Amino acid sequence: MDRIVVRGGGPLNGSITVSGAKNACLTLMPATLLSEEPLTLTNAPRLSDIRTMTTLLESLGAEISTMQDGKVLAMSSHDADNPVADYDIVRKMRASNLVLGPLLARHGHAVVSLPGGCAIGARPMDLHISALEAMGAKIELKDGYLHAKATGGLKGAQIHLEFASVGATENTVMAATLAKGTTVLSNAAREPEIVDLVECLRRMGAQIDGEGSGTITIQGVDRLHGATHPVVADRIETGTYMLAPAIAGGTIELIGGRMGLLGAFCEKLDACGLEVVETPKGLRVSRRNGRVDAVNVVTEVFPGFPTDLQAQMMAVMCTANGVSVLEERIFENRFMHAPELIRMGAQIDVQGGTATVTGVDRLKGAQVMATDLRASVSLILAALAAEGETVVNRVYHLDRGYERVEDKLSACGADIERVSDHD
Ligand code: UD1
Repeated sequence: MDRIVVRGGGPLNGSITVSGAKNACLTLMPATLLSEEPLTLTNAPRLSDIRTMTTLLESLGAEISTMQDGKVLAMSSHDADNPVADYDIVRKMRASNLVLGPLLARHGHAVVSLPGGCAIGARPMDLHISALEAMGAKIELKDGYLHAKATGGLKGAQIHLEFASVGATENTVMAATLAKGTTVLSNAAREPEIVDLVECLRRMGAQIDGEGSGTITIQGVDRLHGATHPVVADRIETGTYMLAPAIAGGTIELIGGRMGLLGAFCEKLDACGLEVVETPKGLRVSRRNGRVDAVNVVTEVFPGFPTDLQAQMMAVMCTANGVSVLEERIFENRFMHAPELIRMGAQIDVQGGTATVTGVDRLKGAQVMATDLRASVSLILAALAAEGETVVNRVYHLDRGYERVEDKLSACGADIERVSDHD
């Protein structure tokens, strides 16, 4: 199993090209099931989660070929005739549940394994299920599988989500594109990945309005056609690397980074003493003065502070001036990085969904282990500024969501390398 070894110290200077968004790509890929014609995605990130979704869609009968070293995914669901998403693939990644809506819309029935246990909270699918039921589906849970049926097809409906779930919004919007009549989805998630999905579906001939506003209206059509769509830039990858100069010093330009995708995150960066400047190519980030100041953070749905940047922000707060309070409101049990940061010398007190971080002068390198994707990268950020060597174990989490992290950071002067056991 690979490890990442980081020797912390100096400032980082250089530029990093932002990849296509993992979370956008994971919802755009199942959209192929909605059409008999090819859907091609450009600017796809090269990540293991994308390979897992490829395997899942292929198991459903889709044909997928990659071009330009994996950056282009050419998909055809012309012969996709299997409506069963098997546990062996689904259990690897929660986003596999995004095939439920498209399969149901395509076949009128679908059997999709529940994603199963997840390291960051219970993450049920009740909102996905009740939205699809409102559109006429009958859904039963048998032997760990959701058995969904829409005899006579899905029908447009008025649906209000109790919570603005990203996945439930994506499944509902995809299913509604081929339903009979109009669906109005209120309290819909407003994340940029939803906007990207709607833009792609529109290119495929879907009739949708209101994405990004909280109420999405979908006028069902008889069929969708083929399209080519560029995956939006990854706002979480952008935000992660914006935090590198916050913790290590220096100036980094994020090529392709866009302020509009970052919501409240940029306000927090400003409050803690970072300067973010829009450049012709993206965003340039540096500290205004020396050490950053402590700020309080509450994770919220977009445009609030994203839960997917909470771990990275905690790493930065470990060496900030003062005390910061981070409150996690989207997921339970999402502070698994805290004990690892403590091993590096951080002062963190976790009580339920709140972590209080007292900034220390310096972190120290240690052997650490990552338990989820964003936790892993928070340990790498911490290691960039720590004294001595840090070894981040269980790097497969990182490979799920960050493309070539060691290359991107070493190009900015970081002393970071990947070590394989068989090296
Ligand atoms: C997506 C992102 C993930 C991000 C999250 C929140 C993808 C592939 N993943 O996950 O990186 O952290 O949005 O921004 O895009 N919930 C329910 N019932 C449901 C669905 C969700 O109770 O039916 C709860 C979850 O347990 C969780 C919260 O709602 O506590 C947020 O989940 P949701 O917005 O659905 O996130 P995902 O789509 O799973």
